[in-house]
Amino acid sequence: MTKTASKDRVVIFDTTLRDGEQSPGATMTHDEKLEIAGLLDEMGVDIIEAGFPIASEGDFAAVSEIAKNSVNSVICGLARANFADIDRCWEAVKHAEKPRIHTFIGTSPLHRAIPNLTMDEMAERIEQTVTHARNLCDNVQWSPMDATRTEWDYLARVVEIAIKCGATTINIPDTVGYTAPIESADLIRRLIAEVPGAETVVFATHCHNDLGMATANSLAAVAGGARQIECTINGLGERAGNTALEEVVMALKVRGDIMPFETGIDTTKLMHISRRVATVSGFNVQFNKAIVGKNAFAHESGIHQDGMLKNAETFEIMRPQDVGLSGTSLPLGKHSGRAALRAKLNELGFEPGDNQLKDIFVRFKELADRKKEVYDDDLIALMGVSEAEENDRLKVVAMKVLCGTGPAESTIEMEIDGADVTASSEGDGPVDATFKAIRKLHPNKAHLQLYQVHAVTEGTDAQATVSVRLEEDGVIATGQSADTDTVVASAKAYVSALNRLLVRREKTGPGADVREINYKDVD
Ligand code: KIV
Ligand code: ZN
Repeated sequence: MTKTASKDRVVIFDTTLRDGEQSPGATMTHDEKLEIAGLLDEMGVDIIEAGFPIASEGDFAAVSEIAKNSVNSVICGLARANFADIDRCWEAVKHAEKPRIHTFIGTSPLHRAIPNLTMDEMAERIEQTVTHARNLCDNVQWSPMDATRTEWDYLARVVEIAIKCGATTINIPDTVGYTAPIESADLIRRLIAEVPGAETVVFATHCHNDLGMATANSLAAVAGGARQIECTINGLGERAGNTALEEVVMALKVRGDIMPFETGIDTTKLMHISRRVATVSGFNVQFNKAIVGKNAFAHESGIHQDGMLKNAETFEIMRPQDVGLSGTSLPLGKHSGRAALRAKLNELGFEPGDNQLKDIFVRFKELADRKKEVYDDDLIALMGVSEAEENDRLKVVAMKVLCGTGPAESTIEMEIDGADVTASSEGDGPVDATFKAIRKLHPNKAHLQLYQVHAVTEGTDAQATVSVRLEEDGVIATGQSADTDTVVASAKAYVSALNRLLVRREKTGPGADVREINYKDVD
């Protein structure tokens, strides 16, 4: 039994905006972070880890603003084991109704070697920093990073120190995704049984997915006594990612018979938040991803379809409605009106204002003219594009591409800061020619890190969603766009990424990106 969580309640700690956003290329803008935090709060996430306040001015501003806007969730910030980090974190989270400081240090032999601290020196550092955090805030989480590769005796010793110094939650991270379910359960069980004072705190589990076991390891930790699961939407996170929120939450809901725990999550909001995180991070969800993948509730084969028609439970262990799908996907067409469009968007979780609806209606009509049926996924893609294009300095106005057996040639007309400009370029294929023409109009040193195309729906008239990730002087930005013409979608995605680079440079200045902070340093 733990102090703040009752026996059957598992607290959900979402770190999409910290661990998730930290994964290369997943950086979000200030407004996007605010939007995602609002959705997490509304969905019933107990604790939102909103960022790493000392990492950059941008991170600090986002955590402060999220803290100010929080409604129900505890707002947490991350801090390394030093006073400057902890003070900066407190400055950002203190605006929340319910603030939390999360401080950590790497305790395994490999991680101890980085700051070159002896076991005793590190123990002393933990004592000082947890005490300092607790003097500022009465809700303090402490993590021994790489706990699953830390010697048992040392782990038990430092956990005891953190508890004595006032930590209220002890998080046990499997930083490199090394543990396995049996070990994960045993570790938490043993800590609770053997560390003095363990009964006064909540134990948390924080798993990475390097061996594909993050969800299983988190659930096993709960079986061992953990009552807080740390996770991210779509499993976003460093390397292979973190535990996926939607997976642990639905596993606990569907298999309550063998895992008698509940969460406070409104699962009908899962699909919408998954789509928004995919759009703003530029990390598409794989089609066969559990719970939120495009195919998670699709039945293709004749036998499966026949079974489904007779009784949905034949092949479904949860209802599509439980995760926020309508169950049926009735397409709109070119005769559908504005009211039908608004109703459909509301059903999909969007609440466009009148101006945005006007804009999206025009785009919808253009698309419906080119495509017989406009599906839910088409509308989601349009919404993503519409939101991304607001306030952009660079805009694609028109383009013409010639391609065939020789080099491709692209001519593009753009509006840049209100001025109309045109350029042409040859290239190795239509996309290369187009990107070169754009670079003529807006010279930049941005390096293309990722170029990805997905068909949104089926058929040769399907919309293509294109994601482009750019890197310039250590600053990373992602752009997405959708169009029935793949080259047009590519141009718009590239331009959208350039717009984001401009915004990021203006807001944070060069060198302010979180990755320039050495995450493993203690000073
Ligand atoms: O994976 C990890 O160890 C972390 C810590 C900062 C908790 O993300
Ligand atoms: Zn992590």
